[in-house]
Amino acid sequence: MTTARQVQTATGDPAWLVESYDEVRALLQERLLGRAHRHPERASRTSRSALFGGPHGNDPDGEPARAAERRRQLAPAFSARRVQLMRPRIRQLATGLVDAMLAGGPPADLHEAVAFPLPCLVICELLGVPYADRESFRRWADEAADTVDEQRSVRGVGALWAYIHGLAERKLADPADDVLSDLVAAADGPDPITDVAALGAGLLFAGFETTVTAIDRAVLLLTTHPEQWRALCADHELVPAAVEETLRSGWPAGMRTRTDGGLPRYAAAELDLGEVTVAEGDLVLLGLDAANHDAATFPEPERFDITRSPNPHLTFGYGPRFCQGVALARAELAEVLTALAGRVPGLRLAVPVDELRLVPDRLVGSVSALPVTW
Ligand code: HEM
Repeated sequence: MTTARQVQTATGDPAWLVESYDEVRALLQERLLGRAHRHPERASRTSRSALFGGPHGNDPDGEPARAAERRRQLAPAFSARRVQLMRPRIRQLATGLVDAMLAGGPPADLHEAVAFPLPCLVICELLGVPYADRESFRRWADEAADTVDEQRSVRGVGALWAYIHGLAERKLADPADDVLSDLVAAADGPDPITDVAALGAGLLFAGFETTVTAIDRAVLLLTTHPEQWRALCADHELVPAAVEETLRSGWPAGMRTRTDGGLPRYAAAELDLGEVTVAEGDLVLLGLDAANHDAATFPEPERFDITRSPNPHLTFGYGPRFCQGVALARAELAEVLTALAGRVPGLRLAVPVDELRLVPDRLVGSVSALPVTW
């Protein structure tokens, strides 16, 4: 029995919110719930962001086929095998960043020293984006993710897209051993560069901000649970389970939710959700964070426990749209935690946790700084 309840989004639009684990997981597999809307201009929005604030496209019927094709195109780029091959390089980058942070401190801002540059370096190397362009790229990504200032968001998306478009053209003329070159070589539509630019810009966004946030959050959770941090430092075998628990836990309770309104879906047709009937075009929000704290699935959900098992959290989604960057994201988190646990067992926050602030009005809200000492 689904328990969808009516809520208002940040833009004041009506939506249905689902929060129980079993229901969220079931609805992540529901083919009648997608990202497209027959009348996008009339659709409820979740924010003013030009990226993810509203529907993607106006053809719900064609969406499953298009999404499957996009996944097929991207699959080789993020296969477990490719990530496995990248693992030593990710390790080298993570340890290099941690060592540079140690050389300059204490104290240090772990957000600037590690959490931001690692995913940026990894995604730039993977896609073949020159790292020298990272500051521009960072600015555009930040603009694009603005959930309040629509013009700023549109500008950011446009700049990011134009940048990747130019890069894709260069890769067509002068291919290298990177994902963007592979995508350009494999594209066969009428306008392959435009297709690849859209894929690449989407990836830069999907794979970057999310991972920066996940690293910040993992460090915050571990440093505010010193006994678990000590356990991890003593036994690095705990790293994979610790990664999963930091992904499940989200922000500490006091900082939570302003950013997790739920994963948006639009109903392609009228749909019965238990006692409520969702009309065609209605917005349904799948509350991943709430599902990850459902006591029926996660005993004592508020307890942060790096040995929690099983830990079937929904942080990467589930079903047909399950995150394709999951192996990469897990590898980055694991290498950061291993490098920190091995080199800085005395790591702790340099400010009280309630002084940390999430950057407001961003799609994937993170902290603007993570002051640490050791
Ligand atoms: C901790 C970091 C990450 C988190 C929390 C995360 C989360 C998610 C979630 C929840 C979805 C499902 C969206 C939906 O159902 O509508 C998703 C999809 C996706 N993610 Fe991630 N992601 C992360 C890292 C990455 C990375 C590193 C990449 C690649 C570089 C990536 C690429 C993708 C792609 C391509 C999709 C779309 C799949 C589709 O539409 O079929 N993600 N991610």
